[in-house]
Amino acid sequence: MNRLLDLERFPLHDLASAPGRALVARCRQELAEHGTFSLAGFVRPRALAQAIAEVRPVFETAAFAHKRSHNIYFKDSVDDLPADHPALRRFETAGHTVCADQIPDSVVCRIYEWPPLVEFLAATMGKPRLYPMADPLARANVMTYRQGEAINWHFDRSEFTTTLLLQSAEAGGEFQYRSDLRAEDDPNYDGVGRFLADPTREVQTLPLQPGTLTVFKGKYAAHRVTPVEGPRPRIVAVYSYYERPGVLFNAEERLGFYGRTEALGAAV
Ligand SMILES: [Fe+2]
Repeated sequence: MNRLLDLERFPLHDLASAPGRALVARCRQELAEHGTFSLAGFVRPRALAQAIAEVRPVFETAAFAHKRSHNIYFKDSVDDLPADHPALRRFETAGHTVCADQIPDSVVCRIYEWPPLVEFLAATMGKPRLYPMADPLARANVMTYRQGEAINWHFDRSEFTTTLLLQSAEAGGEFQYRSDLRAEDDPNYDGVGRFLADPTREVQTLPLQPGTLTVFKGKYAAHRVTPVEGPRPRIVAVYSYYERPGVLFNAEERLGFYGRTEALGAAV
């Protein structure tokens, strides 16, 4: 794995060492203070080039074109909110998705499944353990945003999201967020509505370089990727881990996100 990841700078394989403990402590502090941390240069340049070369042909022939209108919750209705509540304002999202089952044995999937990475992420998030998802489609996704495409304002369903930026756009394609817009015990619907009416006043932008691993607390923070400008797509791997083993998407979720319900190669 040292050929793929810069383990000299980021000793994930030796978290008990002094540098390993210092790395975890720094990441925990950044998560607590800012709701995110990033490891720039985590993936080595040659591995990055290989990862992109592996996914590019799949994108050209078999990516799912994801285009939908949605609100920040990705739900048709929310609690007792009237349909015209400002928190339910609708947005357009467009991108292309490749699922883990389309790129088995790829750099993206090998990094996703590497046990020391899973242990490191659990340590930074203060969890006793994390598990890769059992879902053959949803566990690791590679998303491409081409010119004019973007993922619009939303909250994540999981507490943390882990991403690897493989390629950035020439312009646009920026990750923007607004921390603590809601909380577990406070949906803050009116605050969400006010934010969505004029998001530019309150957002922060995360400057990211290709090869960067990022952990982001996206369940309570509104976030989006701005539309890509120019011919070079933004390519990002999205990794999902859970605190219990065996987590699967249901058929509706698979259809909504990937346009199919069955994994490639699944028994018929
Ligand atoms: Fe997200």
